Amino acid sequence: MKITVYSSKGSAGKTPIATNIALDREYALCTNEPYHILDTILPEERILSVAPNEDFPDLPDDYDMVFDLAGSVPANSSVVESAVRQSNLVIVPIYNEIKSLNSGINSIIVLSHITKNILVVGTKLHKKQGEIFTDWKDSKDFSEIKRMIAEYIDFDVAVLPLKYSKVFDAIFEKGKSIRQIMKREPLAAYTYKKVAKQFDEIYAFIDKNHG
Ligand SMILES: Nc1ncnc2c1ncn2[C@@H]1O[C@H](COP(=O)(O)OP(=O)(O)OP(=O)(O)O)[C@@H](O)[C@H]1O
Ligand SMILES: [Mg+2]
Repeated sequence: MKITVYSSKGSAGKTPIATNIALDREYALCTNEPYHILDTILPEERILSVAPNEDFPDLPDDYDMVFDLAGSVPANSSVVESAVRQSNLVIVPIYNEIKSLNSGINSIIVLSHITKNILVVGTKLHKKQGEIFTDWKDSKDFSEIKRMIAEYIDFDVAVLPLKYSKVFDAIFEKGKSIRQIMKREPLAAYTYKKVAKQFDEIYAFIDKNHG
């Protein structure tokens, strides 16, 4: 299984999502980000680092791998294509802010020439003042991302929610996935329950559609 995580906007959450997947599923992680701290998190043999403008090498079919792309490479570049064309799925993180929505939608349109196996993850979802809901799928942030996708994308794209959480910083502080942190810390198990369940939904989607 190979998964590309890409969206041309920075800070959408590509690296935290890719890292959590690599940790939980014991995948290798392939990155073209010039400054990364993955070597403090993953064993050396599971990190493949290439220069920002270098194409990714073709990797064997049976390699399990997640490509964490730098937001600075444009969607129509050969760099993005070199990862996407060998991936079973592309995850596009988008948050509810105009620049992220724009670049996310543009990324999907460009990527759809190579693959339509695309999962949008609505990231950094916030509860706005006065909002009441129990399911994050009903939040304004998530609804807006879904609405924009439906308006501008003319093929089926699944969209899953991922609420804003400090756990995405904790992954790098502790070098562990959300589930791994929760296993060791009872308080974290309580605090991160919702976001962990949302991430489980992403895994369930991957296994159901591409397992
Ligand atoms: N639900 C969430 N999903 C992803 N990131 C989140 C979420 N909630 C909070 N964050 C925070 O948002 C930031 C997003 O990560 P980051 O800036 O590395 O994204 P990126 O898409 O990899 O950016 P770049 O294009 O610069 O590589 C992190 O600091 C992370 O902790
Ligand atoms: Mg990144």
